[in-house]
Amino acid sequence: MKNRKGLRSRLAQYGDEEFALFLRRGFLKGAGFTEEQFDLPIVGILSTASDFNPCHGTAAKLAEAVAKGVRLAGALPFIFPTISLHEAFTFPTSMLLRNLMSMDVEEMLKALPLDSVVMIGGCDKTIPAELMGAISADVPSIVLPVGSMLAGRHEGVRLGACTDCRRLWAQHRAGTIEEADLNRAHDQLMPTSGTCMVMGTAATMACIAETLGFTLPGAATAPAVSSERMRIAEASGKRAAEMAVSGAPTPRQLLTRQALRNAAIILQTTSGSTNALVHLAAIAGRAGLDFDMTEFDAVGRDTPVLVNLKPAGSFFVEDFHAAGGIPALWRRLKDKLDLSAPTVNGETLGEIVARWPVYVDDEVIRPLDRPVFPNQAIAVLTGNLAPNGAAIKLASATKKLCTHQGPALVFDSLADLEARIDDPKLDVTPDHVLVLRNAGPIGAPGMPEAGALPIPKKLGSKGVTDMVRISDARMSGTAYGTVVLHISPEASAGGPLALVRDGDIIRLDADARKIELLVDDAELAKRRLEWKAPEKPKRGYARLYTERVTQADKGCDFDFLSGTD
Ligand code: FES
Repeated sequence: MKNRKGLRSRLAQYGDEEFALFLRRGFLKGAGFTEEQFDLPIVGILSTASDFNPCHGTAAKLAEAVAKGVRLAGALPFIFPTISLHEAFTFPTSMLLRNLMSMDVEEMLKALPLDSVVMIGGCDKTIPAELMGAISADVPSIVLPVGSMLAGRHEGVRLGACTDCRRLWAQHRAGTIEEADLNRAHDQLMPTSGTCMVMGTAATMACIAETLGFTLPGAATAPAVSSERMRIAEASGKRAAEMAVSGAPTPRQLLTRQALRNAAIILQTTSGSTNALVHLAAIAGRAGLDFDMTEFDAVGRDTPVLVNLKPAGSFFVEDFHAAGGIPALWRRLKDKLDLSAPTVNGETLGEIVARWPVYVDDEVIRPLDRPVFPNQAIAVLTGNLAPNGAAIKLASATKKLCTHQGPALVFDSLADLEARIDDPKLDVTPDHVLVLRNAGPIGAPGMPEAGALPIPKKLGSKGVTDMVRISDARMSGTAYGTVVLHISPEASAGGPLALVRDGDIIRLDADARKIELLVDDAELAKRRLEWKAPEKPKRGYARLYTERVTQADKGCDFDFLSGTD
């Protein structure tokens, strides 16, 4: 039987395989390769280096370090690009393009002659897209996060993107910070290459990738600009070369129910980004599994927040790494996690824990009896306003607002929000529930991170810092406030959020996991008859997206991409 690895794999179809190989080898000779390399196993190195992605400013160097590791292990490295998504450089929102990137990853892994791959990612949507694509392609894959920025320093205060970006901007809106002070702090908010250094979506997804077994140990948290990050890159290349020969583990061997449950525990204990709920649902879907939101909520009830990172806590990702990183956290949670789960490194979580240094910084990774927050960083709500669920990050909410009843003030779209939120004549009190709709997966489209609606200027300037806000949008993992997100079904799909009117009473009872619209069914039925679905885009990717995207509780993936068939 012919060796189907290396250059012999996935030959272009001319109806003559030997000719296809002859051509392929010829082109490589043209690129300066010598014949003795032609029978080596091949490791693809997926690089998301892009000048439009400052978070990935180190990606090209990391790719070289991976290639070095691949060569040291006797395999042949090929660096190749995919779409690269940065949060602040992608209109209208990077989430709209996550599925497109996942398709790019999947199709390249299925098209290129590679036996394994190292996928360099980091900024929020990139690791989810890589995992989704890799699980669908089921090619042996290692995730190499680019790593987080170092924390900034400004006049004695450590700063972190983007939690402090939001805090400073809120102060600017409230008129409590001078322009010159804001500008000086601005210089320090993103002081190095790398991803946001608080427990935002990027750090959350890196920690989840490590817990799902897709990275080498320590890879989630080593700073982007550290020599350790470069050594992890080289080691990832070496390990990928071994996987290229053995053909294992494949992504679907790693992505099991037990691994997903472990990820749910890590999401709760890190007080990670609510965005991870959507990504985990999509990732699970690619393996034909459900990410069970009810189980996720139940897991949270007895999972304390141990990781003391902003926005829920005080420290930064570099501190988490120095404190012991993810394996130290696994050790703390050894009675809750399934430590038999495998990893790309060929070890189980338990085997990594057993050999990991015993040192741990108790201030950053708190002991079980002294948590940052007792339990339930993120809760899943249901009710007549969110029949298929909604999420709230309790660890970043105002406790007394978590049980609240107040009149709705409805913004019909992002444009309506922008036009009216700072109108001095806006009829709003701190008791109002701010409602944003038509900002979900279909509505915006792409479900932008607009769910943490700004506090109206007229209230912000009087010292109001939080209000109950609800929407079918998402929010950045670096944001905070009493914010109900991911309402499903969304308004643009005809969910009950579409029927809310100004002055309707909304009740949030987070303890009871309820979000309710106190309007009787007959009135709602009448309003439903008057509701018209908004127009959808007529062409291109936006049309495909709005026609085939699933709702938040299913991961906002395309319906034709989930499953393993
Ligand atoms: Fe890239 Fe925050 S914007 S990780």
